[in-house]
Amino acid sequence: MKRPYIILVAFAFILIQSCSKEDAILVIQVNEPKLPSTVYNYYSGENTKNHIATLGRVLFYDRLLSKNNSVSCGSCHKQSFAFSDNVQFSVGLNNMKTERNSMAIQNLPSGTFFAGGIGNGTGDGFGLNPVDLIANQGGGFFWDGRESNLRSLFTRPITNHIEMGITDMNEVVEKISRQPHYATLFQNAFETPEINVTRMAEAVATFMESIQSNNSTFDRFMMNSFNPMSPEEQDGYNLFFSTYNCGSCHNPSPGPYFTDFPKDIGLDNNPVDLGFGGITGKADLMGKFKTPNLRNVALTAPYMHDGRFKSLDEVLEHYSTGIQSSANLDPTLKDQYGNPRKMNITEKDKKSLKAFLNALTDYSIVTDVKFSDPFKK
Ligand code: HEC
Ligand code: HEC
Repeated sequence: MKRPYIILVAFAFILIQSCSKEDAILVIQVNEPKLPSTVYNYYSGENTKNHIATLGRVLFYDRLLSKNNSVSCGSCHKQSFAFSDNVQFSVGLNNMKTERNSMAIQNLPSGTFFAGGIGNGTGDGFGLNPVDLIANQGGGFFWDGRESNLRSLFTRPITNHIEMGITDMNEVVEKISRQPHYATLFQNAFETPEINVTRMAEAVATFMESIQSNNSTFDRFMMNSFNPMSPEEQDGYNLFFSTYNCGSCHNPSPGPYFTDFPKDIGLDNNPVDLGFGGITGKADLMGKFKTPNLRNVALTAPYMHDGRFKSLDEVLEHYSTGIQSSANLDPTLKDQYGNPRKMNITEKDKKSLKAFLNALTDYSIVTDVKFSDPFKK
């Protein structure tokens, strides 16, 4: 009689174990407020797309997408910081830190590849491999352009061991399927309640693509005949586009995305992180990184791929006196002798440039409820 007893105890133990696991999920669910059935107007008049984005919003903020139900996309892409993070490296699973600075999510081109300001938002990368894509289209998503498709990007943070730590996507599908509220959300978005990774990716991408910032002072300046910019902002605009030629890389047309092909801006003599070069192995891409979108830049500190600069003052100081002679330093950042350029930006000009960069802030996306965390009480 001894053996069956042990088996029984072992069985009970397993039962308790799996119950507590089950409970953990249930507890989260119970603690959560009623998820919004409100369908916001993400895409004007496009009913189906609005339902897909509504589902995407919930998934974006759902911590069940991580191994131990602690991290969501929104943990590192916070609305109040234009969907970036306010720390140098974000905290992922089990307090592990990301290797790069979290990127803002806004005005992502609604296409398969990121076209560095040239995008027409259509196509599938025209069948280009990553190297050609970088050469022709300015690269893809992430600081090193390693992903060209916003839908296939979806599983990357989830399966990243530092960020969300999932090893098998079926695990996520199963966890999501156990939440009763998702059946309706999937049904409304895709006409059947079936839950799968493709649908989840489509929903989250559709949500992210709807985050379009176009209500900054700068936008009003571009769209109106009257000038809403202060004299100082206007001065900064001129310095940005003419005197210091920042706009040659942070190019506002035709997006305006304020971005361009990957560039090396001489942060280090010998970069440790090789950026696009690390992905492609190409010598002429070593140390080059995606030119970040400067929309809402006043909200996205700290700055650069490694978050090394705490403030816009530090960024301006880099361009003013700090450019290093790195192997692929961009020609626009060299003087006539090929040495790193010293812009020696005056204090007055720094103030004006900062005023202009502040004029790129769009407070509507950081406060709009349709982009907010539905799990927040
Ligand atoms: C633990 C923090 C963390 C989590 C969680 C996280 N991200 Fe990120 N995200 C980052 C970092 C860091 C980068 C830059 C990574 C790099 O360049 O290597 C990034 C980059 C991105 C980009 C690229 C933006 C661009 O302009 O190229 C997108 C899109 C994105 N994340 C979406 C998501 C989605 C969707 C999720 C949830 C499924 C998610 N992230 C979860 C930290 C995080
Ligand atoms: C040669 C192209 C080039 C020029 C010229 C240039 N930038 Fe940049 N800028 C970049 C790249 C590339 C990065 C990201 C570098 C990295 O992280 O390794 C960047 C980063 C930045 C950032 C940080 C953004 C973030 O989200 O982390 C700011 C702010 C900025 N630049 C402002 C300026 C200003 C102001 C000027 C003019 C004084 C300027 N840039 C000139 C290419 C350029």
